[in-house]
Amino acid sequence: MGRTMRTPIIAGNWKLNNTISEAVELTSELKDLVEESTDIEIVVAPPFTALDAVGKVIKDSNIALAAQDVYWEDSGAYTGEVSVPMLKDVGCKYVIVGHSERRQFFSETNDSVNLKVKAVLSHGIHPILCVGEQLEDREAGRTEAVIKEHVTGGVANLSGDELLSCVIAYEPVWAIGTGKTATPEQAQEVHKYIRNLLKAIYSNEIASQVRIQYGGSVKPDNAAKLMAQSDVDGALVGGASLQAESFALIVKNAI
Ligand code: 13P
Repeated sequence: MGRTMRTPIIAGNWKLNNTISEAVELTSELKDLVEESTDIEIVVAPPFTALDAVGKVIKDSNIALAAQDVYWEDSGAYTGEVSVPMLKDVGCKYVIVGHSERRQFFSETNDSVNLKVKAVLSHGIHPILCVGEQLEDREAGRTEAVIKEHVTGGVANLSGDELLSCVIAYEPVWAIGTGKTATPEQAQEVHKYIRNLLKAIYSNEIASQVRIQYGGSVKPDNAAKLMAQSDVDGALVGGASLQAESFALIVKNAI
């Protein structure tokens, strides 16, 4: 089974950017630019405060809504947190979980990532599970070991059906926001490794249906080559998703 059975997915992770009015303007522009793009899934992940407003702009369009993080409890005394039912209520179809910035700056661990993945799945929406090595891991030849911990930790105790509801995003930390993209060959090598890991835990049939996005300095001019790799099924875009034209060009160059 090859790439053809996996619908490409391009997601824009806006990180800590955009007020409500800026978010609405960006989304409205994007909606017009990508309205003809079919056979591809397009996702935007605004900050929590703009989810509701952006959700209204993309209602009935070909763009889906994602959150950038979530807490695993549904409700309770957890000041500052947001739950999966709340994100569902505002229209989220996806939730980014375990982004490297959350691992680096907010003490996210493979165990907390797994709790979040399971919480998202238990409410019938889809985690985008982020994995990726740091520069010193790569330089020390530990890329595969780190990826293995992130992947096996993140999907621990998931059934095959649950895994099929997940998207995995490979984001080498050294390529995030640095302008230093992984080469298409480097990306393919790790994507293939991830798929093989999933094959070993689940089955060939399941592993071959899971979509694996690449993230890290994806721009309009490098998207096509990355997406041409047989195990690269999409992109998780940071900086270039903050401008409608560049994000729309990535969407167009991806198919
Ligand atoms: P950049 O595209 O800005 O490198 O960010 C990638 C990323 O972290 C997406 O989640």
